[in-house]
Amino acid sequence: MEESHDKTDRKRSMFDLSGKVALITGGATGLGKAFGEVLAEFGADIAIGDIDDATARQTAAQIEKMGRRSLVVKADVTRPDEVQRMVDETVAGLGAIDILINNAGVTAKGMRIHEMPIEVFDRVIDIDLKGVFICTRAVLPVMLKQGKGNIINIASSYALRPFFNVCELKPNASYVTAKTGLIGLTKETAVEYARDGIRANAVIPGWFTGTKLTVATEGPEYAAFMKQYDETVLRLTPMGRKGDPSELKGLMVYLASDASGFVTGQSFVVDGGITI
Ligand SMILES: NC(=O)c1ccc[n+]([C@@H]2O[C@H](COP(=O)([O-])OP(=O)(O)OC[C@H]3O[C@@H](n4cnc5c(N)ncnc54)[C@H](O)[C@@H]3O)[C@@H](O)[C@H]2O)c1
Repeated sequence: MEESHDKTDRKRSMFDLSGKVALITGGATGLGKAFGEVLAEFGADIAIGDIDDATARQTAAQIEKMGRRSLVVKADVTRPDEVQRMVDETVAGLGAIDILINNAGVTAKGMRIHEMPIEVFDRVIDIDLKGVFICTRAVLPVMLKQGKGNIINIASSYALRPFFNVCELKPNASYVTAKTGLIGLTKETAVEYARDGIRANAVIPGWFTGTKLTVATEGPEYAAFMKQYDETVLRLTPMGRKGDPSELKGLMVYLASDASGFVTGQSFVVDGGITI
């Protein structure tokens, strides 16, 4: 009884995502996993494109347990052929792509510009910026054919401020440049496709717990300065703590749903106040 009451409420709600299909890059783990969970909770079917096939399959199995359809495509966002396969298999398997979340991302070890190997800069730009272009470029023809679509890019608070205090410990020109570029790409996508019924917005997270982003990049070296780095982040964050991925879920549902129907080209900061 309670369950059907909930469903009725959701169907009436402007946040309802029933019948929609969301494709999430890097959706196996971290923030991308949280996005998949909440969109499924609000009714969407979820396709995950990720290089980590095994974890993506576990995440997809959890989504199916929620009563939604889910699909995994092993795809590296820097590889146009793999991205095209990701798009084709999502449309073949789930019937549409209503929502694209460009979430796959990496960072780089902290180092100053004059010390940064060009390949390190290239890798972050390739995944975090060019990868978004490649995925968006491949999905747009599907959305144009549908006459509607919704693109959500995951940037970073580094796009707004290079955070000298933090960067002193972990300077990161590659990540700052990629995420700043992503805000521009979001605006460009929004204006080019607004009259085609396609919206594009960005989310700007501050520091969040429970993801592999920094630990995976830094390895054991990270442990040496992690305490100092974390203390600096917490001191700079007015709320005095890091965010939990669940604290991005409300914004994600808002942006993915009709609730934000007149919103495009914008960037939404969720950061405990660190960019103030
Ligand atoms: N965690 C934070 O505090 C934070 C803050 C700001 C922005 N972000 C952004 O959020 C996004 C998700 O990061 P996260 O913290 O969840 O990291 P994470 O490392 O936990 O997850 C990233 C996911 O992306 C996948 N991935 C990496 N490279 C890929 C590629 N080339 N092709 C396809 N998939 C790939 C990984 O396998 C993984 O599943 C990133 O864009 C990141 O820059 C995170």
